[in-house]
Amino acid sequence: MVSPNLDTLRRMAPSKPALDRLLRAAAEVRGNAYAPYSRFPVGAAVLAGGRVFAACNVENSSFPLGVCAERNAVAMAIAAGARRIEAVAVVGGGERPAAPCGGCRQVIAEFAPPDAPVIYAAATGVPVATTVGALLPAAFGPADLKAAEPGSTSSPAAPSPGKARSAARARASRTSGR
Ligand code: THU
Repeated sequence: MVSPNLDTLRRMAPSKPALDRLLRAAAEVRGNAYAPYSRFPVGAAVLAGGRVFAACNVENSSFPLGVCAERNAVAMAIAAGARRIEAVAVVGGGERPAAPCGGCRQVIAEFAPPDAPVIYAAATGVPVATTVGALLPAAFGPADLKAAEPGSTSSPAAPSPGKARSAARARASRTSGR
């Protein structure tokens, strides 16, 4: 039998025990949330390269500077050198499990494939299981920027700013006789 290489193993769907562990890490770190203004503590954990990175929301007296738990967890994984997120768990909310906010969905989608599992749960009760792609369909991502690069075969037919400028110069020199 051919044994799978490390990369193949890493790309396999995270196991149920791995997701349970992720959810427990999110529930635990929620206890450290700094949420004196909203009184809405959130814990998040991301699985990257088999490692768990957990963080909470950190609010600020200058309200817009508060950062969500998910974004802090993603930042920890990235700072540790990870570039691919395999799964996400979020714990927040009283009765109703709180799904990741729109901004966090975008940040998660930067590093996680559409089929990466996302588990979100309230402090008690049944967790909701979904995926990154289900939470953010038709996501804008790195591929969109790549497709718009000059010379990209998939870029739209509209002229690039550079081409538009040289066309304008050509028109101007035709009319001015230069
Ligand atoms: N919050 C998160 O940490 N994650 C989300 O996905 C939604 C909201 C935090 C931000 C703020 O500190 C508090 O929950 C209330 O919005």
